[in-house]
Amino acid sequence: MSELNLAWQWRAARGLLEVPSAIRVFHGTGEGSGDLQYFAVDRFNDHYWVTQWDHPGVTTVREQSQRKAIIAFLRDRGAQSIVGLDRPQRGVAPQAEAWWGEAPDSPISVSEGTLNFWIRLRETRHPGLFLDHLPLRHWLISHAKGLRVLNTFAYTGSLSVAAAIGGAESVTTLDLSKPSIQWAQENFELNRLAGTQYRFIAGDVFEWLPRLKKTNGSFDCVILDPPSFSHGNKGNFSTAKDLAKLHALALDLLAPEGFLVTSINSANVSWQKFEGDLLSAAKEKRIELQILRAMDLPETFPTRLGSGGDRYLKGWILRRVS
Ligand SMILES: C[S@@+](CC[C@H](N)C(=O)[O-])C[C@H]1O[C@@H](n2cnc3c(N)ncnc32)[C@H](O)[C@@H]1O
Repeated sequence: MSELNLAWQWRAARGLLEVPSAIRVFHGTGEGSGDLQYFAVDRFNDHYWVTQWDHPGVTTVREQSQRKAIIAFLRDRGAQSIVGLDRPQRGVAPQAEAWWGEAPDSPISVSEGTLNFWIRLRETRHPGLFLDHLPLRHWLISHAKGLRVLNTFAYTGSLSVAAAIGGAESVTTLDLSKPSIQWAQENFELNRLAGTQYRFIAGDVFEWLPRLKKTNGSFDCVILDPPSFSHGNKGNFSTAKDLAKLHALALDLLAPEGFLVTSINSANVSWQKFEGDLLSAAKEKRIELQILRAMDLPETFPTRLGSGGDRYLKGWILRRVS
């Protein structure tokens, strides 16, 4: 377990583990070797969420021994409970299962710097917070002041919370899933954010972007973070086929000088194809966009030099310049 320990010590030396909070404590892709590279460990206060990716050649015996070693390591560091999510190579993962201890029945509140979020550890496939979007939340905290923000594909609204804490004039949070929108509202309450400037919509992006254009006009910051595939009210969506269409709809809503934040996590869409799709939407709308920064993983998700594909987030923060 020396790799787990090295990862832990590195974070501890930077003060990242002093406050109970939400953080990736081990990113096997860049910090593990052998079977350990297929594990990731996320800490939520003193509760842990371990993701294990199925991989060719692994045996039950090897898997069990890695699990035991991880459990022992985390127990030594004060874990109150550990849940594990098995990610199959294909298809949908089953819900996370208890590996050790009793995960709380109710959601727990965790902090990420000045932001607070509700996390669920039971009967779920995801705890509710994408830790890899930490740099984007930081950017929103420092840039959202005075902006009218539209956060689409919002899930539990973590980017909306960051924008609101950053002083956004208004934040509209849109997601297809009603339970996610409900969770986003609870995250706003947790952060003591209330008021009519915060709007929540359970609906399909392809239905609502044109509708918002008619009713709201424009936004100063539009955030797009779609899944690779989805089945919405308006039919199926895939990042492989529909990025140009999605960006054209989003650009219709983008105010002059506004920010477009666009992010995907799709191995089958290259940076080049993504840029081509975005550019064709911008040309169609006669809009010029300036790249301010490229999307990237936080330093708690290190990868190895030479394994470029492991830096799986793609996208940009752009500014409309004409
Ligand atoms: C990758 S998650 C977004 C994560 C989020 N940006 C965050 O940082 O927490 C994708 C979300 O898109 C939502 N979604 C999928 N298809 C949609 C659609 N057609 N319209 C609106 N939301 C959709 C899903 O319900 C899911 O919550």
